[in-house]
Amino acid sequence: MKGIILAGGRATRLRPLTKITSKQLLPVYDKPMIYYPIETLTTAGIKDILIIVAPEYAGQFLNLLGTGSEFGAKFTYEIQEEPRGLPDAFILGEQFIGNDAVTLILGDNIFDHNFSESIQNFQKGGSVFAKEVPDPERYGVIDFDEKNNVMSIVEKPENPKSNFAMVGIYILDNRATAFAKNISPSERGELEIPDVINQYKDCGELKVKVIDGSWHDAGTFDSLLEANNYWAQKNKKIK
Ligand code: TTP
Repeated sequence: MKGIILAGGRATRLRPLTKITSKQLLPVYDKPMIYYPIETLTTAGIKDILIIVAPEYAGQFLNLLGTGSEFGAKFTYEIQEEPRGLPDAFILGEQFIGNDAVTLILGDNIFDHNFSESIQNFQKGGSVFAKEVPDPERYGVIDFDEKNNVMSIVEKPENPKSNFAMVGIYILDNRATAFAKNISPSERGELEIPDVINQYKDCGELKVKVIDGSWHDAGTFDSLLEANNYWAQKNKKIK
């Protein structure tokens, strides 16, 4: 199993915080944001990790993270020239993925949840994760039945069919790259992750699990503040 952290993007919603640096380098309590997705992957046993960054900040990521040895991992870097959308990770990562399965995690998604079991027991198809939220229309919304069969995944729907957001970690088999190459940009000009995931659903090979641990998508001022507060409290409780 390979890991990819997608840490490019424009981060327009966090300007001016992100005018001269990357969102994923901003602090979340006592460490840079990208440490959290790195730890999510390494804790689950993934040691071979591709970090995809925007060209302006590539040097900063390299200075901060280096070879990965500090994390007991091996990091490879790839530059995404333009934010073409999340599925671009599977296209840029084609050679890196090779013949393996891959876990993609978004660089601004911060979990307090252990994915070891899902990652270590993964065999084929796709596994995605859901979390109940009060404002599903902000996210990719996932509708599923009592047996966790996925009925639909729709990006930012006006009328959400459920209150479950699809969170930013996806475990996919080797078809991810081919599926990403099949799709075209949406109206907003980006490749959309549901268009990849839905191809696993159409083959009857998509599973969803509801996570009980916490999840923050730290892409707005409020969610970034919430993530900082959550980890500050958590660290105090541990000490
Ligand atoms: P988003 O939060 O959707 O986009 P963004 O970070 O550019 O922010 P904004 O909407 O405020 O302009 O991205 C989710 C994560 O994926 C984030 O960590 C950035 C990353 N990303 C890329 O690396 N490349 C991309 O092409 C896109 C769309 C996102």
